[in-house]
Amino acid sequence: MKLKELAAQVAADFQKHYGRPPRWIVAAPGRVNVIGEHTDYNDGFVLPMAIERYAVMAADSAATPGKISIYDTHFKENATVDITAPVTKGQPKWSNYIRGVLAGFQNRGVTIPALDVAFTSTVPLGGGLSSSAALEVCTATLMEAVTKPIDPIEKALLAQKAEHEFAGVPCGIMDQFISALGREGHLLLLDCRTRKTELVPMSDPSVELLVVNTNVKHELGSGEYAKRRAECEEAARILGVKSLRDATADQLEKAKGKLSEVVYRRARHVIGEIERTVHAAEGIRESNWPTVGQFMYASHDALRDDYEVSCKELDMVVDIASEIGLKGGVYGCRMTGGGFGGCCVALVKASAVPEISKRIAAEYKARTGIDAAIFASRPAAGATIVKA
Ligand code: GLA
Repeated sequence: MKLKELAAQVAADFQKHYGRPPRWIVAAPGRVNVIGEHTDYNDGFVLPMAIERYAVMAADSAATPGKISIYDTHFKENATVDITAPVTKGQPKWSNYIRGVLAGFQNRGVTIPALDVAFTSTVPLGGGLSSSAALEVCTATLMEAVTKPIDPIEKALLAQKAEHEFAGVPCGIMDQFISALGREGHLLLLDCRTRKTELVPMSDPSVELLVVNTNVKHELGSGEYAKRRAECEEAARILGVKSLRDATADQLEKAKGKLSEVVYRRARHVIGEIERTVHAAEGIRESNWPTVGQFMYASHDALRDDYEVSCKELDMVVDIASEIGLKGGVYGCRMTGGGFGGCCVALVKASAVPEISKRIAAEYKARTGIDAAIFASRPAAGATIVKA
């Protein structure tokens, strides 16, 4: 559904629930990462793209002071947040993404007004498409609309802090950055060390990015993500560098004997992935799609074998995509996001999208018994105030 229609739907749901129209409507997108996986917390490069799937909130000032009421229009569930004191964690669980951001604004000295809010999200939950970042950035955008604008980088960092402190996931900065700073028709090359961003145009109508949701739930809270982070830090320490961004493949080979086999492989992925991301961005600038596709396959291989964050369903999708191959219109394919389930992203010929989608869906179902959800997305805009 287009953002305009989605916004109208949430406005109608607001009206039905609260008996009056909303004053503000805001939205923030989910994302896929084209390449640069598990590099953000190593000060490396990432190349995500905002997708046409959004968290949307409609809101108005509330008559009752001291609280924010949030109505989830899809699950028909309510959450109430007390804003007369520092906002803390609470129930239901999803409200913590919102609570974390509200707490962040309080910490900046912002007085949060009482609000009635209706919200929904078309970002699949647990699909590795950053549904949580979309919700956090959406909440931050609502706060901006209602109070005053903040710098988009500070906004992304505030949303990341909410994820750390209220959801317990020690994520990097990629997801919140792309949701806050994405631009229609562009990928975002982000240097996670300097936080410098470059918008990389991706407007060639002959290619599309296909998102294939394995419908195997991904769970980052389970501890594997934090474990990978710790392994990277250990590698950096042994190599004597501040972060793996500062290490070269040569350096790693020379120090191989000092690292455990696992930590060596983790570092090999990260060092290689940072380089692949920079080269893939060059390939995109030149519309050299076969080259970009090769980097995507290489990224997947390393995530599967060295970083061990893939799963058999993700591998299956990549296998099917590579079997279809260039002849069938697939340039490249890889898992995207944190891993352990979730989605793959495939770079494909636009004209072959229906045929490729059909084939992946059929083969995946035949091999796993699971129905995949497949959709194409153009690079979408980052967070927006739809109605001020
Ligand atoms: C999750 C995190 C991101 C990033 C990716 C892996 O999506 O939220 O910060 O680390 O995993 O690239």
